[in-house]
Amino acid sequence: MKILLFGKNGQVGWELQRSLSLLGEVVALDRSSKEYCGDLADLDGIAETVRRVRPGFIVNAAAYTAVDKAESDAEAAHLINAAAPGTLAEQAGVLNAWLVHYSTDYVFDGGGETARSEDAAVNPLGVYGASKLAGEQAIQASGCRHLILRTSWVYAARGANFAKTMLRLAKEREQLAVINDQIGAPTGAEFLADATAHALRTASGNPDVSGVYHLVAAGETSWYDYARWVIDFARAAGVEIKVKNEAIQPIPTSGYPTPARRPLNSRLATAKFSAAFGLQAPDWRFGVERMLTELLDK
Ligand SMILES: NC(=O)c1ccc[n+]([C@@H]2O[C@H](COP(=O)([O-])OP(=O)(O)OC[C@H]3O[C@@H](n4cnc5c(N)ncnc54)[C@H](OP(=O)(O)O)[C@@H]3O)[C@@H](O)[C@H]2O)c1
Repeated sequence: MKILLFGKNGQVGWELQRSLSLLGEVVALDRSSKEYCGDLADLDGIAETVRRVRPGFIVNAAAYTAVDKAESDAEAAHLINAAAPGTLAEQAGVLNAWLVHYSTDYVFDGGGETARSEDAAVNPLGVYGASKLAGEQAIQASGCRHLILRTSWVYAARGANFAKTMLRLAKEREQLAVINDQIGAPTGAEFLADATAHALRTASGNPDVSGVYHLVAAGETSWYDYARWVIDFARAAGVEIKVKNEAIQPIPTSGYPTPARRPLNSRLATAKFSAAFGLQAPDWRFGVERMLTELLDK
């Protein structure tokens, strides 16, 4: 199996380099790759890359993920998140290859309090969500075999993430304010990459699984409860924490204005993915605990 990976140095892309390596030859690119073009802003370049590599699977982990910046940079967001996946899908169709692509709960407006299934009505609140939705639609319209995996609240051990930021602030500050009315499931890049590799293996013998899937960790939390959980975990592990629990203030989204509106309800139902690929998502705390344990052991 030959796999062409775009976005190899992002949170998910980094973990995919590991998980996909078990399946065969992986040609992994980022935007500065030299031998092949890996820059999603260069549509002719990435089309040429697919034609030269001739993969059985294209995995696109690259994206314009700066949600707030996208509000004033819509053209770039649409180029990377919609036009580029469309080009990859077109080329996948020509080769009869699969395209694996990631999307987001931001295609929804976040109303209600229940977990959305894949066929729930879409209604993005901002440019990022709209560009990701347009990417999904371009892939679907191409007719290529695809796995579109919608996820949410992604974190990775490598680089910055919410848990690490909360830990740092809790050590430095006496007061913290954290949003408590956005609900979702923190989902590890490691888990996403492993689940992708399993799904890809299943898909290689089974074209019927082509479609859109929700893929997130099990359970749910708010950013506030997530922060509290991380801080409690660190305190119990002996880390010196400055902020007292009663000084961690829950605030509504309206108390923390940002250029892009964010969905309040990021719950995604994963039954379709579990049924198609025979996998069960672990509780969100499982991956976060592993990441924190590794971090605190250093
Ligand atoms: N992060 C989340 O919470 C979240 C939530 C839901 C869905 N998702 C989706 O999950 C997928 C993976 O996200 P992630 O969290 O791994 O994102 P990430 O860490 O921000 O990685 C995105 C990668 O895309 C690369 N990229 C940006 N523009 C590019 C271009 N023109 N050409 C080539 N590469 C380019 C970035 O490179 P540079 O670093 O050089 O810019 C970065 O390595 C994305 O499709 C994202 O929309 C993420």
